[in-house]
Amino acid sequence: MPTEELRQDTDQYLMNTYARTPISIVRGRGSRVYDLEGREYLDFVAGIAVNVLGHAHPDLIAAIQKQAQQLLHASNLYYTEPQTKLAKALVEHSFAKKVFFCNSGAEANEAAIKLARRYAHQKYGAERYEIITMLQSFHGRTMATLTATGQEKVQKGFEPLVPGFTYAPFNNLSAVEQAVSSKTAAVMLEPVQGEGGVHVADRAYLKGLRELCRSRDILLIFDEVQTGMGRTGTLFAYEHFGVAPDIMTLGKGLGGGLPIGACLATDEAAAAFVPGTHASTFGGNPLTCAAGLAVVRTLLDGRLLEQGRRMGEYLGKGLQDLKDRLPIVKEVRGLGLLQGMELTVDGKSVVTDCLARGLLINCTVDRVLRFVPPLVITQAEIDRLLDVLSQVLSKRI
Ligand SMILES: Cc1ncc(COP(=O)(O)O)c(C=O)c1O
Repeated sequence: MPTEELRQDTDQYLMNTYARTPISIVRGRGSRVYDLEGREYLDFVAGIAVNVLGHAHPDLIAAIQKQAQQLLHASNLYYTEPQTKLAKALVEHSFAKKVFFCNSGAEANEAAIKLARRYAHQKYGAERYEIITMLQSFHGRTMATLTATGQEKVQKGFEPLVPGFTYAPFNNLSAVEQAVSSKTAAVMLEPVQGEGGVHVADRAYLKGLRELCRSRDILLIFDEVQTGMGRTGTLFAYEHFGVAPDIMTLGKGLGGGLPIGACLATDEAAAAFVPGTHASTFGGNPLTCAAGLAVVRTLLDGRLLEQGRRMGEYLGKGLQDLKDRLPIVKEVRGLGLLQGMELTVDGKSVVTDCLARGLLINCTVDRVLRFVPPLVITQAEIDRLLDVLSQVLSKRI
């Protein structure tokens, strides 16, 4: 179907929830995608931090094909091996002892919110239900997770919101200390705020939150839906800070492109869930878990994590160099292959100009260009991004 016809049919048959770029992507390989007309694009979006192994990674394809031939779905009424194997792999490489699987980042956060509430309810009674989240955060689009999201634009029109959430400015420990009360069940945040404009947490802030939560038996929840699975150069971003949460959520990169989310927790926190308290029909599905296992193995055994870390440093340095040369760049922030470049002007037209030069990038909160390529990205591909960006931004000075 030609792109223009597809656009018209999409407008006619789909709900109007996305402002789409007018290209139709039909296939991908490595860090490149191709549109219907055969044009090639260098992909620094990667499905918004999803395709960590790149497009069409042979190990991921093989794992999905093998599992598809064997069993697609069986329900959590029964045991299935891929689910347990993926949980074991995640536990072996994280602080966590137990995993609950679902299908998206928002659902993983729903599970985390429910787990924290139930933990506090059982231990301290029904009055302890509040969760402190951060301003500019992003936790999803379900009712509880959009309430947890500290951005009015995400909440507007959906009131009444879910009760029991309060907000504090990011990277401000004393604000959280002041917000804590006898009602506080949990503190929830992203170690690097992604959608909110790529803001990295300070080490002292996270350490302070850890101490505060420990001293009051408040659960610390890290939303690693965007930062997890090697995105920041370590398997999970919390490793950079030397601060482990009680609960961590994953999504996006976990399935390498298949929809899967996970809520990981310590034994103590996880014990708040018992049969009948939480469930998901598709959660832990054999196909998505086989994909997740291939992602974890490729990241760890295939040294991809190491490559991503090196490329993240290279990208961060290259973007900083651009900042030093171009006054239109206000700040460069990020960790690993989650980098943001804040401009002094709106970034939308920059994204469009990059597209015309065969480069996919994303803009968040109006002025922040975001770069989240696959971890297989190469130095030459990063050089190409920097070159195109330099051309496009220089035009605007
Ligand atoms: C940090 C974070 N949490 C949660 C979500 C929601 O994930 P999903 O869109 O899979 O529901 C996102 C999505 O961008 C995210 O970046």
